[in-house]
Amino acid sequence: MRAIVQDGYGSIDHLSLGEVPPPVPAEDEVLVRVRAASVHPDVWHVMAGRPVVLRLMGSGVRGPRERVPGTDVAGVVESVGSAVTRFTPGDEVFGETIRGIQWSNGGAFAEYATAPEDGLAPKPPRVSFEEAAAVPTAGLIALKNLPPHRVPSGARVLVNGAAGGVGSIAVQLAKAYGAQVTGVDHASKLALVQSLGADQVIDYTVEDFTRTGEQWDLIFDVPGNHSFGAIRRALRPQGKYVLIGHDAFGATGHHWLGSIPRMLGLMARSAVSPQLRGGSFASPEKRQLLAMLAELMESGQLRTVVDSTYPLEQVREAMRHLMSGQALGRVIVRID
Ligand SMILES: NC(=O)c1ccc[n+]([C@@H]2O[C@H](COP(=O)([O-])OP(=O)(O)OC[C@H]3O[C@@H](n4cnc5c(N)ncnc54)[C@H](OP(=O)(O)O)[C@@H]3O)[C@@H](O)[C@H]2O)c1
Repeated sequence: MRAIVQDGYGSIDHLSLGEVPPPVPAEDEVLVRVRAASVHPDVWHVMAGRPVVLRLMGSGVRGPRERVPGTDVAGVVESVGSAVTRFTPGDEVFGETIRGIQWSNGGAFAEYATAPEDGLAPKPPRVSFEEAAAVPTAGLIALKNLPPHRVPSGARVLVNGAAGGVGSIAVQLAKAYGAQVTGVDHASKLALVQSLGADQVIDYTVEDFTRTGEQWDLIFDVPGNHSFGAIRRALRPQGKYVLIGHDAFGATGHHWLGSIPRMLGLMARSAVSPQLRGGSFASPEKRQLLAMLAELMESGQLRTVVDSTYPLEQVREAMRHLMSGQALGRVIVRID
């Protein structure tokens, strides 16, 4: 089958179109005829091999263990493993091909990919393959960190990085829960943030939200470009802070460990700072989270924004566009 093959870590020069044998589903896996796959920052991490620690976390030390990149797919079920009960050939599905951490290649940039049964959900009929492929990784991280119980109706929620893949979903989740939402991003992207339902927008190039004198009940922070001391100025005393973290395609310079030291520091600090505690609710399984995302898409409460679609052979151009930071919504690879 045709697939994008990654022959080492580094730049887009390590990605090329090739021929590889189609994957064979394990007993709990589904073989999907891929129609669309998304190009997102975690695909960049594994392409670049940055932060370096990801190579020790299962991605592969000298080069990627799984050579075909991509994790988020939408397509049609081709065949199922013997233990699969929820899908049959011909079903339209979307989801994540990987198990465990996001920092590994998942084989999505190919004509066929396998995914664990629990990593897939039925694609809502009214949603296109491209729109569905834009959601899984970003939607799962947004929903895990912004579950309904964390956002009481009427709460003031600020989403920093609101136009990005994760932030744009967080804005819509918070609106769906009945929150008042402030979206922070670059001026060129604020119209998009407003169109997703944000009540108020802030251009980070002209205003620092931690110095406006305003306070929020929850700050959902994708870029993580403020110290926690600064964030506290903008949080109500009982407010909560959620850090996602973004390496800005290497620009933050955290080449070895990425955002991990910052996350660990915040976890340690959560012992004395309730604003960093998530609460005692267990996160639902991936399968349930995907079903919730599908329901939100079907009801129109979650709209996915596709910036551009590239054919499989133009994955390098798609990656270049993602890394430019100019995309207004998700970058998608289409496989015909
Ligand atoms: N931990 C996990 O399990 C997990 C799962 C999924 C994703 N992630 C991570 O989540 C991160 C975000 O992914 P994404 O898809 O949302 O990225 P994205 O699409 O690149 O979005 C990031 C957004 O933040 C904006 N931004 C940059 N600097 C800013 C600043 N100083 N203030 C406010 N906004 C700023 C960017 O705008 P500009 O154009 O101005 O840069 C962009 O719109 C990635 O690093 C990804 O690896 C983690």
